[in-house]
Amino acid sequence: MAKQMMYCWLSIPLSTAKQRFNIKTAPLSSRPVLASARAERRISTASKKKKKKERNNSVEELVVVKNDKEKRRTRSEKEYEELHSFHQTESHVPVMLGEVVDVFSSLTLRSFIDCTLGAAGHSSAIIKGHPELECYVGMDVDPVAHAKARAHIDALLHSTHSSLKPHLLFKNFKYIKSVVGEIDDDYNLLSSGVDGILMDLGMSSMQVNNPQRGFSVLANGPLDMRMDPRASVKAKDILNYWPDDEVGRILREYGEESNWRWLQKKIVQARQQGGLHSTGELRDLIQGATHGTKGGRQGWIKTATRVFQALRIAVNDELNTLEKSLHACFECLVPGGRLAVISFHSLEDRIVKQTFLKIIEGNEGDGDVVEEEAGKRDLRKMRNDVNEKETWIRQMVQGQSGIILTKRPITPSEEEERLNRREAGGEEPRMMVPSGNKWKATGKEGLTTFTSFAFPYLTNSRKRNETVNVRRANMTVYNSKKANLTAARKERMKLPITDSGYRFSEFLSHPFGIQAILNTGSLQSFQSLDANTYRCILPKVELLNFEAAPVLDLRVTPADEDCTVEMISCKFQGSELVERQNDHFSAFMVNHMTWNTNITEPFLEVDVKLNLMLEIYTQPFTLLPTSAVESAGNLVMQALLDRLVPLLLEQLLLDYNKWTNQHLAIIP
Ligand SMILES: C[S@@+](CC[C@H](N)C(=O)[O-])C[C@H]1O[C@@H](n2cnc3c(N)ncnc32)[C@H](O)[C@@H]1O
Repeated sequence: MAKQMMYCWLSIPLSTAKQRFNIKTAPLSSRPVLASARAERRISTASKKKKKKERNNSVEELVVVKNDKEKRRTRSEKEYEELHSFHQTESHVPVMLGEVVDVFSSLTLRSFIDCTLGAAGHSSAIIKGHPELECYVGMDVDPVAHAKARAHIDALLHSTHSSLKPHLLFKNFKYIKSVVGEIDDDYNLLSSGVDGILMDLGMSSMQVNNPQRGFSVLANGPLDMRMDPRASVKAKDILNYWPDDEVGRILREYGEESNWRWLQKKIVQARQQGGLHSTGELRDLIQGATHGTKGGRQGWIKTATRVFQALRIAVNDELNTLEKSLHACFECLVPGGRLAVISFHSLEDRIVKQTFLKIIEGNEGDGDVVEEEAGKRDLRKMRNDVNEKETWIRQMVQGQSGIILTKRPITPSEEEERLNRREAGGEEPRMMVPSGNKWKATGKEGLTTFTSFAFPYLTNSRKRNETVNVRRANMTVYNSKKANLTAARKERMKLPITDSGYRFSEFLSHPFGIQAILNTGSLQSFQSLDANTYRCILPKVELLNFEAAPVLDLRVTPADEDCTVEMISCKFQGSELVERQNDHFSAFMVNHMTWNTNITEPFLEVDVKLNLMLEIYTQPFTLLPTSAVESAGNLVMQALLDRLVPLLLEQLLLDYNKWTNQHLAIIP
């Protein structure tokens, strides 16, 4: 049984959601893809005889719009072939393409983010099927993927005479919120929200098929495994330098490898002989360590597959990133928008499932009961509408903040599996190379056998690491209004010319520089949550008779040429009443710092954007038009930024001076 899954997720409020579910609103030009995608679904569920008939129907729909001389093919065959020629050079065919197209087909997709761009297979289909798109963003951490994706998307836009200006960003999807805040075009993604988001987890075949990336079990190459070449940790660092226990934990938790103790011992012993430096050396070690155990060749290959998976997850911090990012994606969605996630193995499945449930559950018991009931009625009605029109949706799970459209994941259609088998067919010897969300094999078995063979035991429970949960404010009061407040401030200051030779980027990556950015001197306390995220507790402020301490979770990402500070969560600590207000707002801030020190007048520039989503649910504010609350709120926020940003910048420069002077003092 193949393991790919898609969970689809839909958020409330309901009025917009209903409208977005109206399949008739899908523009005509998207029909060929939509019709064919619907046909695909029918193919995967109907009987053989019915399948044949429906396949012909789908072809007819296609032919009407396209070319009546077109050869009769099923949608999957046709799309497969189109994509195959499209991706001739890199053999990457996006997984579950029909299903992905289906999920978004009923939405008017004015904005879309593909978090895992790859070779832009999914993105191309979405762009093609949604000419109404005004804002498209593709993200990937792999520059190779970018080069391919850019070429494909540009060619597609050119051939369709589209004026869409794609934003292709070399960024980790965990930064989706700051990306949304930073996109600077007419669409204004930050205030409009995102209609559709896609995550297609795992590696692309471009990555696996290049032995130099270190992902392949059988092809020899360096022990790298970084999807993002800017990242500092490689697989060889973990194997050769990380504490023994940590190596064991990775094998146990991320590979669910029962033989982890023995492997850990062998890996640590290998350090005495100079360590492991190539995938071939690791493979030989695994082969030796599993020698004589059950399963022969298949036994060690299975173990190697699990070990490679474990290392890849650790190198790319995949599971932590996934959990955090699902929350962040949720926050970016427009009410009624959809998030679709294609996961590959059971560790990912579990995180997606549990996080979705957590997200939709929100805070129970809050809010006005009568209004909540009305909301539920709307929700029920919408569920019926949805069921009628989108046959792929099954067993929805309704929560206070949203709906999971697929309680049980969708798996690839029979057709796709058949096509994958065709692609996978080949000669002995059997060769396994993980490939994106599929596994390609040469050998007689098809994909179905192969996927279960690849990850037979990935079912143990995983210890969860502490994460910073970014939760959308629980807008539990139905019919309340939402105000969207924004403020922005750019500020440039001269950087002092120092003789120290230290670069500003070095200062920002130094602990002293991080503290300066966080302005820890003015905090009540701060703690590090993970490598680059900090919880900052501000001194208490008095609000009427209440005391509240703002708690900010800030992520600092210093790089050579810029530094980004994102506020990923803002809450108030205090009495219960104060803390309850946390459910009625969400705030987002991004500060993008850039500098130039190679000119006669070096400078530092900060670009701060602040966004506050506020629920208006108490009188007298509910009586005012939202625009009145927004304009007053915007003025207050702007005044705050205008006052604070120059002060913070000044303080940062003072700290920079202090730091460079201290360094000068210790240089002999
Ligand atoms: C399975 S491929 C996606 C294929 C893509 N859907 C297509 O149609 O071509 C997954 C991609 O996600 C990228 N990726 C993995 N983790 C990422 C992350 N945290 N942030 C951004 N991109 C990531 C990988 O570099 C890879 O290119």
